Amino acid sequence: MSEKPDPMTVPFGTVFCDWMATAPTANGVYGYAGSVEPYGDFTLSPAAHALHYGSAIFEGLKAHWQVDGSLAIFRLDDHVARMCQSASLLRLPIPDANVLRQMIIDTVEANVEEVPPPPGSLYIRPTLIGTEPNIGAAATPSSEALLYVVNCPVGDYFKGGVRPLTLLIEEEIPRTTPQFGMVKSGANYAMALSPTLDAMAENAAVDQILFATGGDITETGAANFFLADDNRVVTRQLDSSFLHGVTRSSVLALANDLGYEVEERPIELDELQQWAENGEAFLSGTAAVLSPVGTVLRGDAQITFGDGEPGSNTLRLRESLVAIQNGSGDDPHGWRTAVQT
Ligand SMILES: Cc1ncc(COP(=O)(O)O)c(C=O)c1O
Repeated sequence: MSEKPDPMTVPFGTVFCDWMATAPTANGVYGYAGSVEPYGDFTLSPAAHALHYGSAIFEGLKAHWQVDGSLAIFRLDDHVARMCQSASLLRLPIPDANVLRQMIIDTVEANVEEVPPPPGSLYIRPTLIGTEPNIGAAATPSSEALLYVVNCPVGDYFKGGVRPLTLLIEEEIPRTTPQFGMVKSGANYAMALSPTLDAMAENAAVDQILFATGGDITETGAANFFLADDNRVVTRQLDSSFLHGVTRSSVLALANDLGYEVEERPIELDELQQWAENGEAFLSGTAAVLSPVGTVLRGDAQITFGDGEPGSNTLRLRESLVAIQNGSGDDPHGWRTAVQT
C-alpha cells in the first residue's frame, strides 16, 4: 500500500484506495473482468455523452469494521437497487445488479488494509457514465457506458464530529427539478452549487442549506431532514423531488422498532418554531450518518432547537443506527453484508 494522508485529518473523499473495479459496455452490455485493477486514470472520448449531456450517476455507501473484527457493508443491496433505478431514469444501460454487487464487494475486499478504524469507515463510490462519442445525442440516451467503483477511507463528513449543525433555509431556488431529485445524478449537485455557495457566502457558520421551495421542506444538499420528539419521528413523504435516502429508510425502520410514531408527511416551515420549543431536528445520510441540527436560520430569524445541543431522541436513534453499522447490535432487518478480510 502506498503512503497516504490520514483520512481522519483530510477532507472527506480526497484519499483513494489502491484498487478499483471497472466494467465498460460493449453493445450496451457491461463486461466486468471479474477482478479489480489498480486505481488510476482512464481514457474517455472528448465527445463522451456524460461530458456534454450529463449522463452520469453515482452511489455512496460504506463498509464498517465490526466489533468482532469482521468487515461489513451497510445496506449493499438497497444501494445497488437505487443505482439501477437511477440508470433507468437517466436512460443509461442498466447494470446487472449481481455484477454491480460483486464489483463493490471485490473492491472492498481488495482495499481491506485501507479501511480505517471507527469512527472512520470505507466510503464506496460506484459511478456510471455515458460514454457514447456522439455530440449529436442531446436528445437521445448514451448507448454505451462505463461502470466503475472506487473506494475512499473516510472520517467524519462534518468537521468536529457529532455536533449540532446550523442549517440555512432556501425557500426560493429549488435544489433541482421536481422530477429529478430522486436520481442520484451529478447534475443535481451542479444545480445546487450556486444557491448553496451564495447562501453560505452570507453566513460562514452555515453547515448545509435546507431546501424548502415554497415552504415545502425536503432535504439538504447531502442529507435528508427529520424532526423528532419523545413520541414521534417525522420526515417528508417520498416523491420524485428529493433523494430517497437509504439512511432515511433505516431511521424510519429503527424509529418504528423503538416504538416511535412515524409520520411521513409534508413539513411546513411554520412548524419549525413549534418543534424547536419541544422537539429536535436532525439530518440523515451515508456521509452525514445521523447528525443533530442545533439551529435553523430563516431570513433574519434564528430557530434554535431546545438548548441548541444534540437532543436525547436524536442520540438514541443515532446509537441504534451505529450499532447496526458497527455490529455491536443485532441486525433484525438484514442490512449487513459480510465481506472477506
Ligand atoms: C441530496 C442528498 N439527499 C439525501 C442523501 C442521503 O441519502 P443516503 O442516506 O442514501 O446516503 C444524500 C446522500 O448521501 C444526498 O446527496
